[in-house]
Amino acid sequence: MASPVDNRSALERVTLVHTIYIGAITVVLFLLSVCIVRYRHMKRMRGLKAIPQNRIPAALIEATTQRAMSLSAPPVVPAEGSLGWGQPSSDFGQVHFKTSIASSFQVLEAAAMNRYPVLYREPSMTVANYLVFLREVCSGLQPQLCAWYVATYERARFSTDDFTLDDYKAFMDRFVVLIQAIESPQFAVNESLIPPERFRMAAVS
Ligand SMILES: *[C@@H]1O[C@H](CO)[C@@H](O)[C@H](O)[C@H]1NC(C)=O
Repeated sequence: MASPVDNRSALERVTLVHTIYIGAITVVLFLLSVCIVRYRHMKRMRGLKAIPQNRIPAALIEATTQRAMSLSAPPVVPAEGSLGWGQPSSDFGQVHFKTSIASSFQVLEAAAMNRYPVLYREPSMTVANYLVFLREVCSGLQPQLCAWYVATYERARFSTDDFTLDDYKAFMDRFVVLIQAIESPQFAVNESLIPPERFRMAAVS
C-alpha cells in the first residue's frame, strides 16, 4: 500500500518528467528556428552567387519580385497596364513596382554580405540606418547614390504614391549602379570600425 510520502514523490516525478518534456520541446523548437534562419540565409546567398554579372537587371527584378510575392501575396490580378503593375505580357508581368522597390534592400544586403559577412543588417536597423552604417565602415559608396536609394525605398515602403513602369526602370538603372559599387574592388570594409560582436554573429550565421 502506498504511503502519502510515496504518493508525493510519485507526483514530483511526474512533474519532473513534464518539465523535462517541455524543456526538450523548447530546445527542439529553438534549434529548428535556428536551422530555418540559417537555411533561408544560405538559400539567399546561393541565389545571389548564381546571378551572372551581365544579367543583373533581370536577376534583380526576379529576386525582388519573388520576395515581394512571398511577402505581400494578395491575390490581385493586375488589369492590363494598370498603374503600378507591369503589363502581363511584358518582362515586367506580375511585377508590382512599389512592392518590388520596397523589398530591394534585401538584394542590397545580400550583395554586401556576399562581400563581407559582417555587413548584415541588424533586425532593429532601418534601411536608412543600414546605409549610414555601410557608409561609415566601408569605402566606395557614393553619398548621393545612397541618399537617393534611401529616399526612393522610403517612398515605396511608406508613402501612398504609386510607381509607373518608367519610375521602375529608372530605379533599376540606378540600383544596379549601387549593387555594382558594392561588388567593385573599391568597396572595402575597414575592419577596425566593426564592433567585435559582429564577427561572432557573422561566424555563426
Ligand atoms: C580605419 O579606421 C581607423 C579608425 O578610424 C583609422 O585610423 C584607419 O586609418 C582606417 N583605415 C583605413 C584603411 O581607412
